[in-house]
Amino acid sequence: MEKITAAITGVNGYVPEFVLSNKVLETMVDTNDEWIVSRTGIKERRILKGKGMGSSDLAVPAVKGLLEKTNTKPEEIDFLICATVTPDYVFPATANIICDKIGAKNAFGYDLMAACSGFLYALVTGSKFIESGQHKKVIVVGVDKMSSIVDYTDRTTCVLFGDGCGAVMLEPSTDETGIKDSILRSDGSGAPYLHQKAGGSVNPPSHETIDAKQHFVFQEGQPVFKAAVKSMADVSAEIMEKNNLSGDDIAWLVPHQANKRIIDATARRMDVGLDKVMLNIERYGNTTSGTIPLCLWEWENQLKKGDNLILAAFGGGFTWGSIWVKWAYNS
Ligand code: UT7
Repeated sequence: MEKITAAITGVNGYVPEFVLSNKVLETMVDTNDEWIVSRTGIKERRILKGKGMGSSDLAVPAVKGLLEKTNTKPEEIDFLICATVTPDYVFPATANIICDKIGAKNAFGYDLMAACSGFLYALVTGSKFIESGQHKKVIVVGVDKMSSIVDYTDRTTCVLFGDGCGAVMLEPSTDETGIKDSILRSDGSGAPYLHQKAGGSVNPPSHETIDAKQHFVFQEGQPVFKAAVKSMADVSAEIMEKNNLSGDDIAWLVPHQANKRIIDATARRMDVGLDKVMLNIERYGNTTSGTIPLCLWEWENQLKKGDNLILAAFGGGFTWGSIWVKWAYNS
């Protein structure tokens, strides 16, 4: 039987209107624009404002737009997978809430948590449902409302993160395009360097955990940086070697947007020029699960059928990985 491949047949994104600039952060914590730009590449990030607004409120406009762009009725969706570390609730899954809000009555859905590698893990998972032949239309969402878990008195983390969402449609490929290969890795010994201390079953919410500010992102930047530079570059080079791809064969590197210095190191290792690297960290910061699909959305018009893309990420867990995608359509 002929092997079925999953192709990305549409992409859409959504970022909230409110812009939090480095200049404004200077008035909130002891930081400055020069430090943030030179150490990370970030100039501003978007924040979802409004009481009672959660990650699904970022995802719904992104997914509704995706349905419109791909001429898809919500009832046609078989499966929706949502990568996030900031679900609307601990349970039920945000995927279920998104499906309800968009009217995807025939879909099942669940959330997947792999921090900044979440979208890659979800994309691979979604592609397997297509490859099985059982499902025809799968939506993969990467969304995070990082502002809900960021301590805006902690200068070491609050300058890094923003809110945003990207979503892609997966369908069976009818030609050589689609998700060609992937390498996903994880190492739980990295957990102490990047995590949220309370709110889970080990440290359930209590007055003490709130007083100790344990419901926010905790990061030891240096060890994460070192691991990210090595692992993201290694796994990107590995997928190229495995598939006999040279830097010249790659049309675009689509990297997770945590730090411009990590992205530059990955591009160097892959022998890919910076003109072929999708980079929007300057405007959105690190939106965790949202970064990679937001890049695809912003660059969609420049992508051509047959382009080789390498998607690469590193994040909390530790988790990391790379995916080789052969782009499936011209816009
Ligand atoms: O996306 C998930 C994975 N996460 C990552 O990939 C992030 C990886 N880590 C990083 O990107 C970097 O480590 C950071 C951007 C988080 C930090 O940059 P760094 O060059 O590693 O800085 P550092 O943590 O070593 O701090 C250097 C100095 C320290 O001051 P002292 O001890 O040298 O006096 C910090 O206190 O910079 C200070 N600092 C700041 N100064 C101004 C830390 N944050 C700030 C700030 N503004 N916002």
